[in-house]
Amino acid sequence: MKISPKDNLKPKGLKGISDQQIEYHFETHYKGYVNKLNEIWEKLPAVDRSKANQNYSDYRSLKVEESFNFMGVTLHELYFENLKNGLGTKPSAALMSRQERDFGSYDKWKEDFKACGIALRGWAVLVYDPNTNMLINNGLDAHNMFGLMGSIPLLVLDVYEHAYYVDYGPKRAAYLEAFIDNINWNVVDERMKNIPKK
Ligand SMILES: [Fe+2]
Repeated sequence: MKISPKDNLKPKGLKGISDQQIEYHFETHYKGYVNKLNEIWEKLPAVDRSKANQNYSDYRSLKVEESFNFMGVTLHELYFENLKNGLGTKPSAALMSRQERDFGSYDKWKEDFKACGIALRGWAVLVYDPNTNMLINNGLDAHNMFGLMGSIPLLVLDVYEHAYYVDYGPKRAAYLEAFIDNINWNVVDERMKNIPKK
């Protein structure tokens, strides 16, 4: 198995998030996950399964880091995609009515999403969970930590320091505002089409 970086997802000319910030994030961090995932997948077929051990083993190390890098790739691709060319787009009526149902209103959803982006160490993700038929703001401390399995990611926000320090230093709240200004709601709407009708 081998994947290639999706260069077409790199945003440019965002409002309040500089091209330099995006350049470091995309070229160093995102592509770093792509490269390491490929390296892990190259090593996995040959690793000795008979020595698998939960305290320490080569197999365990590869599986743990496969999860970290796989989710690093997936979340970054969703993040860059839902930032690109988003200025001026608006949440669809269908999304707003679900936000209203599950959070009380669009503004209450936004307040909760921002709190999630401040309280967690890695990501805030608006997901739809088919099992409960609910929208949930899912906070992650790392790419592979606290994700709700089975849920469909609709909107992904990276809150690692590497996502905003070039532009904002430690002012994460200001970065969250800039992120919200740049959301491509058309992309979010496309992702909503994966939601099964209930
Ligand atoms: Fe990142």
